[in-house]
Amino acid sequence: MKALVLSGGSGTRLRPFTLTSPKQLVPVANKPVLYYVLEAIAEAGITEVGIVVGDTADDIRAAVGDGSRFGLDVTYLRQEAPLGLAHAVLIAREFLGEDDFVMYLGDNFIVGGITSLVEEFAAERPDARILLTRVSDPTAFGVAELDTDGQVVGLEEKPEKPKSDLALVGVYLFGAAVHDAVRAIRPSDRGELEITDAIQWLIDGGHDVRSTVISGYWKDTGNVQDMLEVNRSVLEGLEARNDGTVDAGSELIGRVRVEAGARVCGSRVVGPAVIGAGTVISDSYVGPYTSIGENCLVEDTEIEFSIVLGESRLDGVRRVQASLIGRNVSVTPAPRTPAAHQLIVGDYSKVQIFS
Ligand code: TTP
Repeated sequence: MKALVLSGGSGTRLRPFTLTSPKQLVPVANKPVLYYVLEAIAEAGITEVGIVVGDTADDIRAAVGDGSRFGLDVTYLRQEAPLGLAHAVLIAREFLGEDDFVMYLGDNFIVGGITSLVEEFAAERPDARILLTRVSDPTAFGVAELDTDGQVVGLEEKPEKPKSDLALVGVYLFGAAVHDAVRAIRPSDRGELEITDAIQWLIDGGHDVRSTVISGYWKDTGNVQDMLEVNRSVLEGLEARNDGTVDAGSELIGRVRVEAGARVCGSRVVGPAVIGAGTVISDSYVGPYTSIGENCLVEDTEIEFSIVLGESRLDGVRRVQASLIGRNVSVTPAPRTPAAHQLIVGDYSKVQIFS
């Protein structure tokens, strides 16, 4: 069994972050989403992993290397443009050979791993197994229709009138028949080779397509709200640990992880929260569900339910919440109550101001 991890794509929904860095590397509890994916694959006993990469290939390579850190043997597969999930399977043909494989979207987050699914697939060897989860708004997802025996009878991509509330999760298991499917289908109206069309092709051809409805937590981290939500969920399971220094004037309440070389002075940190290596928190309040990256400076600031990437500085700002703050960012108050706002904001940014 092999694994195919999709880490190309254009990430338009996470702009401006994805203009400078791939979304698969946005950290959750200070660890890139993609690392959780690779750890789940290694835990399932798979070692041969193909990572599909696009324009951000260099960043993904720098972060993952040859995969040995995860106990994996990684091959990079270049996709010239994000032409669809089924296109990623098409270009991986040589790497995959005739082996069964798990296809895992590199920006998806599943709690509980994939070990039992992989074992079950290896034992039963159907042509495909898809994972489904119940969602409140199926119109935003690929949606499956099941018959009374639970067999998959149809799939629709973002349907206006969904036939069920069962959305496709970004983990799929396939046997070699999927290669015929991805060759047979044509691009959709949005110009992509859709994996839902490939699976529908298998169903229509009488292939054995099964499904598992997962009850555990799943999120596609494609937008900022989902990123914050995944961060919240991972921090729920955080264990308190202090590898840095916390002065007598500070208070850590609940589960707080202070990473190596971090310093907390004159501050109150209410967990679950993580303070990255080398970061300084001074005269500040850091509230629940907050991940502060490495080498940041948070001074005279109040922040909660937020993600701050490495090397950033927040000085004299209150209160910041539900925010995703990129790398090397500086957030400071305007010098006085402004008669006019001065904004230096990149393309696709979203800014909320008093007015
Ligand atoms: P999506 O989130 O569906 O697509 P996207 O990355 O283009 O994002 P957006 O909709 O915000 O523009 O992709 C799911 C995952 O699959 C993600 O990790 C990127 C990856 N992917 C590829 O590797 N190749 C592709 O052709 C596509 C469409 C996605």
